[in-house]
Amino acid sequence: MKKKEIVLTGDRPTGPLHLGHYVGSLANRLELQEKYQQYVMIADVQALTDNFENPEKIRKNVLEVGLDYLAIGLDPQKTTFFIQSMIPQIAELTVLYLNLVTVSRLERNPTVKTEIKDRKFERSLPAGFLMYPVSQAADITVVQGTLVPVGEDQLPMIEQTNEIVRSFNRIYKCDVLKEAKALISNVPRLPGTDGTKMSKSAGNAIALGASPDEIKKMVMSMYTDPDHLRVEDPGKVEGNVVFTYLDLFDPDKTEVQRLKEQYRAGGLGDVKLKRRLIDLLDAFIAPIRERREQLAKDPNYVMNVLLQGTQKTLHVAEQTMYDVRKAMLLDYK
Ligand code: TRP
Repeated sequence: MKKKEIVLTGDRPTGPLHLGHYVGSLANRLELQEKYQQYVMIADVQALTDNFENPEKIRKNVLEVGLDYLAIGLDPQKTTFFIQSMIPQIAELTVLYLNLVTVSRLERNPTVKTEIKDRKFERSLPAGFLMYPVSQAADITVVQGTLVPVGEDQLPMIEQTNEIVRSFNRIYKCDVLKEAKALISNVPRLPGTDGTKMSKSAGNAIALGASPDEIKKMVMSMYTDPDHLRVEDPGKVEGNVVFTYLDLFDPDKTEVQRLKEQYRAGGLGDVKLKRRLIDLLDAFIAPIRERREQLAKDPNYVMNVLLQGTQKTLHVAEQTMYDVRKAMLLDYK
């Protein structure tokens, strides 16, 4: 028997998923699907808020992300996948929730604030981008999600969702909407190969479908210790990306400990360490890549999995919408 909480999470389909996603959220979803009813949403509408001029990119990556989900072992029997834009109730809820949120509250959302700065929108900030946290509240509440596994950066979204939930229930004197709890993973974020935040656009990400050559190239370019010039020099372990990865992917913890000591003392070269990491990552990625290649031969199958999950989600969404309409006296018939 699964626990009664409902898990809802999702990703923007702006590129294939990478190791950072695996460590930060996908691994966790593999466990959650065993314990809970889990929905995983492909957030194509949210991805369009800053890619609306590039619909081909989003369209293509819906399939890529679907492939990634199945390749890592998310099981359509246990996890319900759905495509955000195919659930019209999310759009309906968004419109209704927008009245419960002020523009200044949206402008204060720290994650959105940072994203707006990063994207240098200035005066051309799309209204849809500013209000996407409201749409995210709709994503969560449309399936009555109560547990939302996300990274730290998404905490402000859950907070805003719960503000909307409370306002809604108070104003419309009901308990139709449920508050959601964020489930923050305690694994530290996996840095990109250059030591900064891993992202496809930064070119520092190792894709889940990476070929052996790509893995090799990425690891060989990893940031280590810029002052570690000769093998015999003492080196720094802290902030050294290769060690960060070894800490996560090397099952032999005693050996990693020994390597760290040797590196600190001097006498251990970067290349030797990197070779070790290449082998480990190859072993980790190979089965995912093989499944991914297999599945990619049958894109219709992957699309069907997403569409079937979407059908299932539509039923739940209709029920939520029925209750919401009733609470807001919009049940005209
Ligand atoms: N904002 C999330 C991200 O950028 C993606 C997302 C959209 C999401 N809707 C969601 C995550 C609902 C959790 C719940 O990664």
